[in-house]
Amino acid sequence: EITTKVDSLLKLMTLEEKVGQTVQYNGFWDVTGPAPNGANEAKKYDDLKNGRVGSMLSVRGVKEVRAVQKIAVEESRLGIPLIIGFDVIHGYKTLSPIPLAEAASWDLEAIKKSAQVAASEAAASGINWTFAPMVDISRDPRWGRVMEGGGEDPYLGSKIAVARVTGFQGEDLTDPLTIAACAKHFAGYGFAEAGREYNKAEFSAVTLHNVVLPPFKAAVEAGTRTLMNGFNEWNGLPVTANKYLLRDVLKDKWDFSGFVVSDWASIQEMITWGYAKDEKEAAIRAINAGTDMDMEGYVYNEALEELVENGTIDEEVLNDAVRRILSVKFELGLFEDPYRYCDEEREKTVIGSKENHEAVLDMAKKSIVLLKNEKNLLPLQKKNQHIAIIGPLVDDDNSPLGSWRLGSDDHTGVSFLEGMQAYKGNKISYEKGVSLISNDPQFTKELHVNTSDTTGFSKAIETAKTADVVVMVLGEHGFQTGEGRSRTVLELPGLQQELLEKVYEVNKNIVLVLNNGRPLLLNWAAENIPAIVEAWQLGTESGNAIAQVLYGDYNPSGKLPMTFPRSVGQIPIYYNKRNTGRPVDPAPGQEQVFWSKYIDEENSPLYSFGYGLSYTSFEYTNLKLNKDSFKTSGEIDVQVTLKNIGDVAGREVAQLYIHDKYASIIRPVKELKGFQLVDLKKGESKTIHFTLTDKELGFYDAEGNYKVESGEFSVFVGGSSEASLETTFTLED
Ligand code: IFM
Repeated sequence: EITTKVDSLLKLMTLEEKVGQTVQYNGFWDVTGPAPNGANEAKKYDDLKNGRVGSMLSVRGVKEVRAVQKIAVEESRLGIPLIIGFDVIHGYKTLSPIPLAEAASWDLEAIKKSAQVAASEAAASGINWTFAPMVDISRDPRWGRVMEGGGEDPYLGSKIAVARVTGFQGEDLTDPLTIAACAKHFAGYGFAEAGREYNKAEFSAVTLHNVVLPPFKAAVEAGTRTLMNGFNEWNGLPVTANKYLLRDVLKDKWDFSGFVVSDWASIQEMITWGYAKDEKEAAIRAINAGTDMDMEGYVYNEALEELVENGTIDEEVLNDAVRRILSVKFELGLFEDPYRYCDEEREKTVIGSKENHEAVLDMAKKSIVLLKNEKNLLPLQKKNQHIAIIGPLVDDDNSPLGSWRLGSDDHTGVSFLEGMQAYKGNKISYEKGVSLISNDPQFTKELHVNTSDTTGFSKAIETAKTADVVVMVLGEHGFQTGEGRSRTVLELPGLQQELLEKVYEVNKNIVLVLNNGRPLLLNWAAENIPAIVEAWQLGTESGNAIAQVLYGDYNPSGKLPMTFPRSVGQIPIYYNKRNTGRPVDPAPGQEQVFWSKYIDEENSPLYSFGYGLSYTSFEYTNLKLNKDSFKTSGEIDVQVTLKNIGDVAGREVAQLYIHDKYASIIRPVKELKGFQLVDLKKGESKTIHFTLTDKELGFYDAEGNYKVESGEFSVFVGGSSEASLETTFTLED
């Protein structure tokens, strides 16, 4: 039905109007004020009135969206509504944890719920399209945007992609509390070489098909209506103009029916790359390759019309792009009611509702990872303790909101201090000790990190001396990660490490609470500090979530979605590496030099993928298969007994990994192929089952063909990627 409507509309459209649908402008004036009069803005305004704009981004608020939509619908000849895009990355106003933190929950239901909350608030604010989820696999914590994705693993990343797409889009896109999703950045942006933002991405075709593409494929299968290009090139071609990726794989092989938007000016940037000599060539390459919409790049609107008119671009190519864009607008119900997302009443009740706060609090608690807990320093006692709280982020209500939160208001987070003060039984004293950032960091650089002012040290040390327990809240400011925030030094920034060591000299009972958006180097802390809690940037309810975990009202169950290295020199470091001919771990006494290893550092990470502790402990036993061998297209059942052997109830993320021992391409030493969240009371045990089929046991070759090959496989089950309980089976032809 939609196809018929789209075709009828297309027939009515002039070439200029068709091109208009492929143009996306950034919000360029206060839409509720007078018309803009700067030359560039006046031109954009004129385009809007004349059907030469298909979408706007970063316009938000019912009043504003209504105003801009009114121009498109009531003033342009055909009245085609705009699709309104916005970066709703981890919540709109009520913020969830940053996506990397959410990934640490491994809780797909909670992640889906968090996306639903984000969608409902954004939709109530007039928005109908988010530029999320970012499904880029990333193995390099130097890259600032690792905070925005699901971590290093394609299996977990794919599951999260599905959870987030279905959370944003719901069952029915016309539901005014859902929005269209956008899987980004297609493809390979997460492999920016050396972790340097906007750098070329370097990876093989085998990595493309087995690591980079699976989360996108999962997002497409889950029905994402749009995808976004990356800023990167792959194999010498900007991905914005990569026909193989966009047409052959995405639109043909995967049969994707939605549309692809460029990243901000990424079509235009092909000229800077030296891949297109001018706007015309950039337009030809991008649209022929399959990029349907030009985000704030001024290329399609400048060049397409003439190029189609003179036959350089086949009009059918443009029609295809326009059809896709119009289809999504129909699916969103915008033709039925262009103001579907513009209800002032809904805006007031949905945004910031109690339920939304509860949902993001739940998500925040589930995202916390307990990295170390010696002598059961945690949970904290609730009474008669003197707790000293120290660190630059202690009373910060802004930084925990994290990066990429364009819809939210500053200083709306619950600070750690506020969260702790909600508990009344203890004496709390606090000192920042040192400042982290000396000015508003959103658009500034590392240079503004405080590296010299230690005047607060002495007060902090005095406070720590008399305390029973010291909680130190250290890490990165929320704006030290995100786009354009690559770092080469991954230790705690500024003077925080120095402060930590000074405080440790006077009081060794330290709980280190980390607020950060990427894996950090924590060697000293891991060795010396008895308790370490990875609390990321947890969004609006951050302080409450951390306090509830520290006090044991919530037993942490998060597991790392990214490896924490021992040294920057190990990066990229990730668990599912392909094997080498000289794997380290030579037999005892054997010559150690000529193996795949460093001479000055271990190969192993500090904290591995999938790692995370609980206030209780779990035991895995009885790993069994229901058969020793089976034929491809059959299945095998893996069972294991999981027991809570500690003193309190807890949740374990039981993980299953495989290793394909021999194949026609080199296979990773371990690959996650299943996980389950298991709640166990004290002393309780459960037998859990996993099923393995062709879907988990195959792989892609360099041409992207999926293969399932017979041979022997190992299966590992346990609480992290270091799971050592192992068994084997044979897959027969
Ligand atoms: O969605 C983002 C993208 O991830 C990076 N460039 C700008 C886009 C729109 O804000």
